[in-house]
Amino acid sequence: MAQRMITLLAAAAVVMGGAATSAAHAGTTAGGRLTAAGAETTLGQLAAERGRYFGSATDNPELSDAPYVAILTSEFGEITPGNSMKWYATEPSPGVFTFAAADTIVSLARQHHQIVRGHNLVWHNQLPAWLTAGTFTPAQLRQILRRHIITEVSHFRGKVYSWDVVNEPLNEDGTFRQTMWYNALGSSYIADALRWAHEADPHARLYINDYNIDGLGAKSDGMYSLVKSLKRQHVPIDGVGMQGHLILGQVPTTIEPNMQRFVRLGVDVAVTELDIRMNLPRDAAKDAQQAADYTSVVSACLAVRRCVGITVWDYTDKYSWIPGVFAGQGAATPYDESLQKKPAYFAVASVLAAHSR
Ligand code: XIL
Repeated sequence: MAQRMITLLAAAAVVMGGAATSAAHAGTTAGGRLTAAGAETTLGQLAAERGRYFGSATDNPELSDAPYVAILTSEFGEITPGNSMKWYATEPSPGVFTFAAADTIVSLARQHHQIVRGHNLVWHNQLPAWLTAGTFTPAQLRQILRRHIITEVSHFRGKVYSWDVVNEPLNEDGTFRQTMWYNALGSSYIADALRWAHEADPHARLYINDYNIDGLGAKSDGMYSLVKSLKRQHVPIDGVGMQGHLILGQVPTTIEPNMQRFVRLGVDVAVTELDIRMNLPRDAAKDAQQAADYTSVVSACLAVRRCVGITVWDYTDKYSWIPGVFAGQGAATPYDESLQKKPAYFAVASVLAAHSR
């Protein structure tokens, strides 16, 4: 507990001048969900009382929706840009960097005393065409990767609490994914990326992030071996991000022991992209199952000393990526398409409020 608090509060003090401390003190009356002023306590405040953050992804086009922004900036303690820090958005031509869209989100978060997770630096998706269609030697590719990481992390130095330095490096069987990075550079690109990010912002918490590593299994075993080997080589790795793109009624039962084994390696863990999708349409029974599923995930995090926080991959069904990618599925988030709280919201609030220290 002490270590987690120190980690979170120290990071928060760096990025936002100690605002997390005041958030942590803004709390509820015992057992209640009302602040002293009579307002409902937010998920961000409830999580802060447990020494965690509760956050949401967002994306620039959504920021013109004022009712959406009002909830984004009041309910959550953390924001992750859903797209605007990715390679295609930040280095659209070789050596030409554009941070305006990401800056917009970072300054919005800072205005509202929210911490920011940077997402992401090395991935195989959403890369610019000049990179995927280009022909480079391994040495050139390594220099391109270094320049990208150093430039982006330096730009946000002091403003980003944590970075998903490497995103989705593994196959389902736990072996390394054959990406353009792996194929040219071997697995050493992972340690290099972490070292460059650390050089550019020594205070940022550096993560490897992946999906289907939430519970015990072959892929999570692969991540465990990777992190263990990085730690053994003193590579600056601070955390493992479990994306948490989950399916209704199929939440792994081993999230807690899985998180615990990573923590024993000496890293933080976080749920970085939580959503729990269902076959549409919604109904009351599915909503109830989803509430139970959200409860399981949040409870697991609260039971693990160094599970530092949870981020939903956008907080509302209005802007969730799920229907666009998984045909016939959706309704995966805690707020409906009209920005109304669903049973999943109330389940999260109550488990955050009820959990004893
Ligand atoms: C998604 C975004 O939400 C979409 O808007 C975009 O079209 C595709 O990417 N895992 C990740 C995220 O690490 O970056 C992905 O975000 C969702 C899956």
